[in-house]
Amino acid sequence: MPSDSATSTTPAGVAVSVDFAGLGRAFDPAKPVLADVDLRVEPGEIVAIIGASGCGKSTLLRIAGGLDTPTAGSVSIDGTPVATFDARTAVGFQEPRLLPWRSIADNVALGVPRGTPKASARAGVARLLDLVGLADAAEQRPREVSGGMAQRASLARALARRPGVLLLDEPFGALDALTRLKMQDLLLDIHAAEPTTVLLVTHDVDEALQLADRIVLLGRGDDGGAASILEIVTVPGRRPRDRGSAELAELRASLLAGLGIDRHGHARGIASTTTIPAFPY
Ligand SMILES: Nc1ncnc2c1ncn2[C@@H]1O[C@H](COP(=O)(O)OP(=O)(O)O)[C@@H](O)[C@H]1O
Ligand SMILES: [Mg+2]
Repeated sequence: MPSDSATSTTPAGVAVSVDFAGLGRAFDPAKPVLADVDLRVEPGEIVAIIGASGCGKSTLLRIAGGLDTPTAGSVSIDGTPVATFDARTAVGFQEPRLLPWRSIADNVALGVPRGTPKASARAGVARLLDLVGLADAAEQRPREVSGGMAQRASLARALARRPGVLLLDEPFGALDALTRLKMQDLLLDIHAAEPTTVLLVTHDVDEALQLADRIVLLGRGDDGGAASILEIVTVPGRRPRDRGSAELAELRASLLAGLGIDRHGHARGIASTTTIPAFPY
């Protein structure tokens, strides 16, 4: 199968590895954002990246997709370095970013690589709409569907490229709690149906525990400098996992502690310094 990647001959539709080696990024040389990130993600693995807001999660993902360049080290996909925008990856964001004047089906079709024969493009779009449960909404416009449906269309568009790596930046962060749970199940269905490696940035520790093979905790060390990997946790148990398991509850508490949140949901360093005025306020 031909590939439209400028940097590799890896065929589409094959899950591939991602290697971060000594990766660093400084927008301002005096204040590096990321330093010394070393991580190998295996083909087909789901790795969740968690960390405080502003610690560099999106930056790391953008670099993996070739949307930004590191100032130190490198990232390779399937053994070849990522240079510019990389056709082996597809990126999904918190907002669906659909074209409002196009139908849901036509938005998904935007993800199909150029040069794909029309009949197989149409069949591919129909299959993906089916996979994400949007077959009946194919001819609707984005404004006519719910936020969850728009996000499913956005996932289908990303998959239309048959990416070896799916890069998702808080993809369910804007959805209500129930829709979010359904989307998590959908992502597992997609992962079972489409051979792809998944790098998932999320704010939600429970989401990471439910979906990931491993969870990477990104953050600044005690010196407060650039962020790096503080911890990598292998999540026990096969998916779908029991959301109520005691083992996961323990892991959840330890990851929240790593994020600076105690067992009662208080952010470290805030509760002790904030004075709540006595009633009446
Ligand atoms: N293009 C950019 N130019 C300058 N600073 C940036 C740019 N992109 C991100 N940053 C800075 O890098 C840091 C990490 O940002 P980001 O990767 O978006 O964090 P996160 O996704 O973890 O919230 C922030 O301090 C942000 O302001
Ligand atoms: Mg971000």
